[in-house]
Amino acid sequence: MNKVFSNPRWCTIAVALSAAVLFGTGCMPKERDFPTSPTLREFAGQHGILIGAAARPHLLVEEPQYADILAAQFNSITPETDLKWLHTEPEHLTYTWDNADAVAAFATANNQTIRGHTLVWPNEFYYITTPDYVRNAPDAATMQKYIDDHIEAVVTRYADVVHRWDVINEPMQTLGSGVDPNIITATLGEAWMVRAFQQTRSLDPDADLYINEALTERPGAKHSGLLALVGRMLDAGAPIDGVGLQSHFLFGAPSVQAMVSVMQDWEALGLKVAITELDIVTWLDNEEAQALQYENVVTACLSVAACGEITLWGFTDKHSWLNGFLGSWSTPLLFDADYLPKPAYAAVSMALAGEGN
Ligand code: XIL
Repeated sequence: MNKVFSNPRWCTIAVALSAAVLFGTGCMPKERDFPTSPTLREFAGQHGILIGAAARPHLLVEEPQYADILAAQFNSITPETDLKWLHTEPEHLTYTWDNADAVAAFATANNQTIRGHTLVWPNEFYYITTPDYVRNAPDAATMQKYIDDHIEAVVTRYADVVHRWDVINEPMQTLGSGVDPNIITATLGEAWMVRAFQQTRSLDPDADLYINEALTERPGAKHSGLLALVGRMLDAGAPIDGVGLQSHFLFGAPSVQAMVSVMQDWEALGLKVAITELDIVTWLDNEEAQALQYENVVTACLSVAACGEITLWGFTDKHSWLNGFLGSWSTPLLFDADYLPKPAYAAVSMALAGEGN
């Protein structure tokens, strides 16, 4: 064995050095004194676009800093889980509205719009939001009735405060490029999706209606598959207004050019585009690289007229869903766990202000 690494003292030093290389600037003080005024919503307002964040209602009351930053910096809110089927109608015709109501009240009080996420999320790849009674429906007609009843109840209740609906979330296979063969689509075919859009339109004629999808932010097979699905649905009479690009970037954000190209494909169909769940994992503690990627996403959106919204999946690393999914090392958002603004915040702010690199 190598003599150096068989010596415990050298071994400890070697491990420490490797850790320093792996985790980059981990031991260095981090820059956190970026100005947070003018706010993101002030800059976004100058472009007429929405800057949003996913929110959790209990934090609005439990953590004053959470509520303060959400109100000050964002002009749109997406309830992170509280509009999902399992949370609003866990049993057929039995509703729980309290949490979604709390988000709606907060948004109204702070002059924010709400993105309604989501009426039906049929894909069960990593998280099931469709209650068992729907998935175990005795026959196709009953399953269709459950969907109709659900959409009617939720859309009727929130039509006044919700301005965009993710009518369907993730209709595609998560890692493939075709339509997801989940129990709902396997039972009802694509017709249920067309019907969901038509029903939502008739209940809330003023809202923009979206398909929201993961991993379609770059050109490629899944993006092409989604273009084909949306094309078929439009031909079948679905009133689709836009496509949501979730934008959970676990391994780095796309180049500006790649995102612009995807957005232009939707624009060519006459559709709007929204970035609906943006977060960018920090690898090797490299906050500067993360900031540059955030800047690229904002630049892409600002350069395509069809892109009217950038919503982040939270705003503080303290409460990112990725803390549970990956671990708290992922630090994917704009504010750190102490609510201090990171370089990513400054990059988004400067890109919105037109002062990016
Ligand atoms: C996530 C929430 O953030 C988590 O709190 C929940 O446990 C699982 O769902 N794509 C979506 C979002 O469309 O609804 C997901 O939200 C994240 C991935």
